[in-house]
Parts: sequence; structure tokens; C-alpha cells
Amino acid sequence: MTILITGGAGFIGSHFTRRMVNQGRRVVALDKLTYAGNLENLKDVTEDAKPSNLLRFYTGDICEQRLVERILSEESIDTIVNFAAESHVDRSISSASTFIDTDMKGVFVLLEASKQFTINKFIQISTDEVYGTAHQGAFKETDALNPSNPYAASKAGGDRLAYAYWVTYKLPVIITRASNNYGSHQYPEKFIPLFITNALEDKKLPLYGDGKQVRDWIHVDDHCEAIDFLMTHGENGEVYNIGGGNERYNIDTAYFILDELKKPGTLIEHVKDREGHDRRYALDCAKLMSLGWKPKIRFENGLSDTVKWYINNQSWWKRIKNGEFMEYYKNQYSHRFASADSQIC
Ligand code: NAD
Ligand code: TYD
Repeated sequence: MTILITGGAGFIGSHFTRRMVNQGRRVVALDKLTYAGNLENLKDVTEDAKPSNLLRFYTGDICEQRLVERILSEESIDTIVNFAAESHVDRSISSASTFIDTDMKGVFVLLEASKQFTINKFIQISTDEVYGTAHQGAFKETDALNPSNPYAASKAGGDRLAYAYWVTYKLPVIITRASNNYGSHQYPEKFIPLFITNALEDKKLPLYGDGKQVRDWIHVDDHCEAIDFLMTHGENGEVYNIGGGNERYNIDTAYFILDELKKPGTLIEHVKDREGHDRRYALDCAKLMSLGWKPKIRFENGLSDTVKWYINNQSWWKRIKNGEFMEYYKNQYSHRFASADSQIC
């Protein structure tokens, strides 16, 4: 059985690729290597893989029909796990075009190609953001989708398109909707790695609005384990929420990071809020748990380990936090900070 992992050089995709290769499974990874893709994330499985032929890497775009068809036919792909996406909400607010391409059109290309070849499982990695804000309680898989930013809306498009290929063509599709992931190798534009690395550099932590937004955090290892579990225990045509059961206010997470690093609370600066900011995400995961899976990693333990990883792997994130990243950071944040000494660069 060969698994095609798209987005295999990104944050979650690289963790999943490592997990599969370490289990002795043959993996083909397809990744466009956008700003968020990083071959260094796969270093331990590409250089030290035993045997190394378990992982084959293609640099390429999931929107390229011919490339996708060639991989499916030449590599005898049995299972597809689609992680490839533009994944950052703030970037989607600035410019949505690549989100529509990859998160919708890319899913269409993968589904169409899967229809032509014998694919036994197509796992579409969706997100809890498709539900929009949870005003009360927690979302079940059957609840209406109400995405409120271009990233969430394009993911909802991919999510429903995958479902339509099950209903219409009986393509064996499973859709997963996970909550916010954290862990090692996360690109430092996202909240947790941005705050850890800024604090390590004694830079301000730009907390949006009052910081009382709630996110349910899941450790990336728990998320990957759940996807692995669903590859064998999930039912075709079904959607599964994957939550960590760790709802936290952003401001509490920010203070936890500062405490771990023994840095002062004065590094936090409340800045102009994100447009259309979803106040709270919350998932009801009873459906997945009834099959026998539950998350194992307590948020504070996982976050403490994550902080240590960023302390011990400064070359990884310092290579990223210059050039294109700093340009992005300046564009995204300079108008947000009120104080003159906020050390944007
Ligand atoms: P990421 O941005 O770290 O990685 C995305 C990867 O996809 C990168 O390696 C990038 O190069 C690649 N990619 C982008 N466009 C591509 C294209 N057109 N063709 C091929 N490869 C392309 O994202 P992530 O955080 O690892 O998220 C992975 C998946 O999980 C995404 O589908 C995302 O929507 C979903 N998800 C993420 C979270 C989270 O908290 N990070 C939560 C729930 C769901
Ligand atoms: P993020 O990591 O972008 O994930 P998502 O938007 O998918 O939940 O943001 C997590 C939370 O942190 C979200 O409520 C927005 C907030 N946030 C900040 O307060 N400051 C920041 O600089 C960033 C990037 C996020």
C-alpha cells in the first residue's frame, strides 16, 4: 500500500509523513514548497530513513492535473491524505486567490484523478474553522457550516466537494475537521510559534483585540494519530471532528508561554483585532471517541515541550524569520502596533 501525502513538507503533513515512514509504510509526498513548505521538516526521514526508499518526494502543485495523474498511475497510490493547503487566516484576508486555487481547485484535481485510478481511501483534511464561531456548546459533524474568512470558506469548499464525490461517485472519501494544532516545526506566522519565537527574541507579542478569543488546541501528534486511526476505522462518506479538548483563551496561552520562558508579561501588546475574527472554536468529538480514539497529550505538557523545541531549534526558525517572512510581518503588523518601540524588525 502506497500513501500519497500532499503537503508533506508542511507542519502537520511532515509529522504525518514521519509517522507513516516510521511505521514502515511506503509514502509518496507531493508538495509545492510554498513559503510554508520546508524540506528540512522531513530531514530525519529523507536522510536517515531505513530503508530510505520508503519515502519519495515530488516538488509540485496539486492543481497540476497531469502531474497528479502521473503520480497516481506510476506510484500505484492506494490512499491519499490531502494536507496541501494555504493555511493562514491572516494571509487569506490580505489576498485570497491562492487559497481558492489550492484549497478548492486543488481538491477538485485530486478528486477527479482519484476517480480514474483505484484509490481505496481519500482523506480530506478539513478544519474546525468551517463551522465558524461557536457561540455556545460545541459543533457536531452534522451542524451547518458557516465559515467567516476566506481560508475557512475555501476549506469548506474543498470539504463539501470531497463529500459530493462520495455521494455522486462513491469515491471512498473521509473528511476530518481538526481543531488548532500546535507542536514542533510549525511555521512561525501562527499564534503559538510566533509568540514563542518573538518572546525568545524579546520582541512584542501582538495579541489581537482583548485576547479573550478561545481556541481548542490539539497536539500535532494526537492529530496525526487520529488520522492514522481513521484510515482503518473511519467509515467512507463520514465527517469526523478531531479536537484536543483544550479550550483556552489566547491571553492565557500567551502568559503560559511567557512563564515557560521566564519573560515579562509586558511583552504582550494588545493590537488591532483580525477582521471577522471568530471568537471561539469548539468541537464535539463524541463520534470519533465512540470508535475508540481520544487525545493523549495535556495542553500544558505539550506546550511546554513545544517551547523547549523552539529553544533547542533556533536555527530552524531563524532561517525562516528573515527575508520574505519579515516583509510579511511588517505588512501584517506595523499598522497594528500602537507603540513606537514594538520592534517590528
Ligand atoms: P502548512 O501551511 O504548514 O503546510 C501546508 C503545506 O502545503 C506546505 O508544505 C505547502 O508547501 C503545501 N502546499 C501549499 N499549496 C500547495 C499546492 N498547491 N500543491 C502542493 N502543496 C502545496 O499547513 P498545516 O498547518 O500543516 O496544515 C495542513 C492541513 O491541515 C491544511 O489542509 C489545513 O487546512 C489543515 N488544518 C490545519 C490546522 C492547524 O491548526 N494548523 C487545523 C486543522 C486543519
Ligand atoms: P492562528 O494561529 O492564526 O490560528 P487560527 O486563526 O486558525 O485559529 O491564531 C490562533 C488565535 O490567535 C486566533 O484567535 C488569532 C490569535 N492571534 C493573535 O492574537 N495574534 C497573532 O499574531 C496571531 C497570528 C494570532
